[in-house]
Amino acid sequence: MYICPICKQVLNRINNSYKCENNHSYDISSSGYVNLLNPGKRNNFKAGDSKEMVKARSAFFESNTYEPIATKLCSIISKIPRNVIVDAGCGEGYYSLHIAQQFLSSLILGFDMTKYGCDHASKCAKRINSQNALFSVSNIFDLPLLDNSVDVVTSLFAPVADKEFSRILKPHGYLVVVSAGVFHLDGLKRILYDNLYLNEDKQSIYEGFSLVDTINLKYETVIHGNETINNLFTMTPYYHRTSLTDKKKLENITELNTNIEVNFSIYTKNN
Ligand SMILES: C[S@@+](CC[C@H](N)C(=O)[O-])C[C@H]1O[C@@H](n2cnc3c(N)ncnc32)[C@H](O)[C@@H]1O
Ligand SMILES: [Zn+2]
Repeated sequence: MYICPICKQVLNRINNSYKCENNHSYDISSSGYVNLLNPGKRNNFKAGDSKEMVKARSAFFESNTYEPIATKLCSIISKIPRNVIVDAGCGEGYYSLHIAQQFLSSLILGFDMTKYGCDHASKCAKRINSQNALFSVSNIFDLPLLDNSVDVVTSLFAPVADKEFSRILKPHGYLVVVSAGVFHLDGLKRILYDNLYLNEDKQSIYEGFSLVDTINLKYETVIHGNETINNLFTMTPYYHRTSLTDKKKLENITELNTNIEVNFSIYTKNN
């Protein structure tokens, strides 16, 4: 499925590398992911999420707080053609691997700029013996995939590279974008900030795509343990925006009541 990031020719797997006919070669790491960032452009990009963020996210996912999101995502995918699914900005593969386990005859390709995420995802895939999920360090704005080769792109809490997704999707292929809803993590924000601000309720429009459905998922949950609460905080955009004084408010919190609210926006490529 992959193409060479330099010359755009198809890559073939030969032992522990991917090689194109022009002899560009990309080694597969011991955990199983491959770095397909264009070697000439690697320094142009920031490296994606840090090791710290990836670690916090992976630990938080073990609490299963976000499992209903993965379940709803799989239910949406179950209703559409899904031979090849790209999880763009897959992080440590939590959702990619849920999809892979649910749809064993689909191929799931996870892409993320962070090698820590791809490394974690590949190790998890090995641990659960998932044969149909592959992970690659790549820039989602310049994916190492052929035009018109993918049935579904999923984008969860990640940048939406609409032009690039349109290029790789087959005609009438699907784009599923998952983003934070109005009340998402309101309980966390109530603790951190004096004035609670809610998320904006907006629907994005992407050129070349038609919106076919929107699905809202909202549930209340209780998150136990200070470490898990801090892991959740570390994986949110608020982590970088919050003052030290406000961050300290989480120090002694051992139970967090909050809404989880996400919107699934389902688009099809126009042609
Ligand atoms: C908030 S995380 C979400 C990860 C995952 N989808 C999830 O929900 O657990 C956003 C991810 O997008 C990745 N990312 C940001 N810009 C990217 C780019 N240009 N190319 C590839 N990945 C990117 C980050 O490295 C990070 O892993
Ligand atoms: Zn090449």
